[in-house]
Amino acid sequence: MDLQIKGKKAIMAGGSAGMGRATAERLAEAGADLVITARREERLVKAAEEMSAKYGVSVTPVVADSSKEEGRQALFEACPDPDILAITIKPPAPNGDFLKLTPEDWRNSVDTALIGPIEIMRNYIPVMKDKGWGRIVNIATFSAKNPMLWRLMSGPARSALINYTASVSREVAQYGITINNILPGMFQTEGAEELIEVYAEAFNLPADQDAVLTHFLENNKIPAGFIADADDMAPMAALLCSPLSRFIVGQNIVIDGGQHHSLF
Ligand SMILES: NC(=O)c1ccc[n+]([C@@H]2O[C@H](COP(=O)([O-])OP(=O)(O)OC[C@H]3O[C@@H](n4cnc5c(N)ncnc54)[C@H](OP(=O)(O)O)[C@@H]3O)[C@@H](O)[C@H]2O)c1
Repeated sequence: MDLQIKGKKAIMAGGSAGMGRATAERLAEAGADLVITARREERLVKAAEEMSAKYGVSVTPVVADSSKEEGRQALFEACPDPDILAITIKPPAPNGDFLKLTPEDWRNSVDTALIGPIEIMRNYIPVMKDKGWGRIVNIATFSAKNPMLWRLMSGPARSALINYTASVSREVAQYGITINNILPGMFQTEGAEELIEVYAEAFNLPADQDAVLTHFLENNKIPAGFIADADDMAPMAALLCSPLSRFIVGQNIVIDGGQHHSLF
């Protein structure tokens, strides 16, 4: 399928690893020129070089923390006029005892997982409105719709994010701009691997990836029967960045192998 985005300018904020990288790969493969961001420079630059060489498109790395105003400004200066904006951001790690969460923990979660994406969108919606076209996709989390006691630093802020986009997407659709969210379930990514020790401690397991994955599979009935990798969601993200998705507005697409039962 031709995504019809050849030559378009795309930002993948959080594009050096995991689902952001996989999404960037699909956009580059379809011929979009990319700006990708991350906090860690080495992996970011390597990702940009690899994708540029592989797909023959321009991929510009910008070191920028999306949770901070300076980072969002650095991104805006590097790419003031994208056609496509995809955003992912790593929230604070899974929490232990909820009674020990402090106001500072909550502020950190909100700065990262809510204000970061909102402010990036706010920077670009006027530009897309002037162009009369734009695609925005947030890669958030299934815990936005399916609360989990150990994901309080991610789920509540993302529930607020999808509430915000539900309203804003309906306002901006008249200008040819669509905003949609992908809510991933359990994915084996670089980011998940970095949390193996946290998960192991939380669930009293050996700090070993196989042990943690086996625990997750045994304790979370995933009808599909496996934990996904980033390529299992990237095609959907790429479709939502395409002109082909012009009638998909304000949706929250859960990609979780069927783990959660919900009509909506
Ligand atoms: N993996 C899962 O099982 C799972 C489950 C549910 C939801 N999710 C959500 O899905 C999203 C992607 O997860 P993932 O597992 O693909 O993560 P990942 O492998 O850690 O990749 C995240 C990417 O975003 C960048 N990034 C993170 N925080 C950033 C920030 N503040 N500013 C700029 N760049 C940032 C990372 O690079 P740097 O670290 O160098 O900045 C990396 O390029 C996250 O929002 C996560 O909460 C994941």
